[in-house]
Amino acid sequence: MLSPIQTEFTNLIGCKYPIIAGPMFLVSDSVLVSAVSEAGGIGGMPSLNWRTPEEFRKAIQDVKSKTDKPYAVNLIVNQSNLRHADDLKICAEEKVPFIITSLGSPKDTIQTMHQVGSKVFCDVTTLNYAKKVEDLGADGVIAVSAGAGGHAGPISPLVLIPYLKKHLRIPVVAAGGITNGSQLAAALALGASAVQIGTRFIASHEAKVDLSYKNAILNADPEDIVLTKKISGTPLSVINTAYIEKQGLELSWLETALLKNPKTKKYVRMLRHWIGSESLKKAILGPTYKEVWSAGQGVGLIDELLSAKEIVHQIVKEYYVNIERLNSFTSEKSRSTYTEAYK
Ligand SMILES: Cc1cc2nc3c(=O)[nH]c(=O)nc-3n(C[C@H](O)[C@H](O)[C@H](O)COP(=O)(O)O)c2cc1C
Repeated sequence: MLSPIQTEFTNLIGCKYPIIAGPMFLVSDSVLVSAVSEAGGIGGMPSLNWRTPEEFRKAIQDVKSKTDKPYAVNLIVNQSNLRHADDLKICAEEKVPFIITSLGSPKDTIQTMHQVGSKVFCDVTTLNYAKKVEDLGADGVIAVSAGAGGHAGPISPLVLIPYLKKHLRIPVVAAGGITNGSQLAAALALGASAVQIGTRFIASHEAKVDLSYKNAILNADPEDIVLTKKISGTPLSVINTAYIEKQGLELSWLETALLKNPKTKKYVRMLRHWIGSESLKKAILGPTYKEVWSAGQGVGLIDELLSAKEIVHQIVKEYYVNIERLNSFTSEKSRSTYTEAYK
C-alpha cells in the first residue's frame, strides 16, 4: 500500500497523488482517463477528442461510470475553437471537477466553472501570461516547459517552475519531460505542487493509439525530438521520422505572411489545424508512411509498455526511493537544523 503524497494540489483537487495524465489530442479517451484517476492521479482529456459536443458529454458520463474520483477536461479557449461555448456548457452541466485551459483567454471558463465549484488551471509557458490568468481568478497554472510533448514552451523547467513560483500566489504544476519518480521529487523540490505527464502515458496499455506509435516512443532518444510548425502552425514536438524530415519544419513564406495578417490569420490557422489533425489522426490510428507522432524529450526515459496504474504507482514508488536517497545525504542533526531554518 503506497502512502499518499500530500501537496497544495492534492488538497485542492482531492486526489491521492500529485500526478496528472495530461490531456492529449486524439490519444486520451475515457478508458485512460478513468484508469489514471482510479490509480490515485488525475486523468485528463481534451473535449475536442470527440467529434460532437454530445459525444463529448457521453465520454464524461463514461468516465463518471468508471470512477468516482476527480478527473480533468481540457478546453481550448481561443477564438478558433468554434466548439468552446457548447463544450463549456456541458462541463458546467456535468460538473467536471477540474478544467485545464489552453491558449486564449480563460475568463469565461473560470467564471462559469467556479459557479459549479470546479477548479480551473491554465497551461502557461511565460510569466506574463501566467500573471494574467492569476488575475482572472485561475486556481493554478501548468508550467509547460522546454522538452514537453505537444506544444512545448521555450523555458527550461529548472528555471520556469521556481520563476513562476516566485511571482505567483497560486499553485504551479510542472509539465515537460517528466516520466519517473525522481523527476516528480525534483519538480516538487523546485516549488511545483504536482506534475503533468503526457508522453509517458502514450506508452501505456490503455492509450488507444497504434502500436507503431507506442513502439516509436520506446525506441526514440531525446535527440530525435524536433519542433515542427507544419502540423498546427506553431511549434509542435514530434519524433523526427523520415516523413517529418521530408516535410521540413518551417511554414512557407506565404503561409507565415497570411498567419501574421489580422484579416486572414484565423482562417489560415483553422485550415492548418485541420490539415495537421488529419495527418496526426492517420498516424495514430494505423501504420502509415506519414508518421506524425507527437512526443516530448522524455522518450529517452521510457523503456516499457505498462498499464496506467503501473505507471502512476511506479512513479510514486520511485519518488519515495529518491526522497530516502536525498535524506541519506544529510545527518539527522543537519536535517533538523534545515527543517528549523525553513519554518
Ligand atoms: C500527443 C500529445 C497531444 C497533446 N494534446 C494536448 C491537448 O490537446 N491539449 C493540451 O492542453 N495539451 C496537450 N498535450 C500536452 C500534454 O497535456 C502535457 O502537457 C505534455 O505532454 C507534458 O509533456 P510530456 O509529454 O513531456 O510529459 C499533448 C501532448 C502530447 C504528447
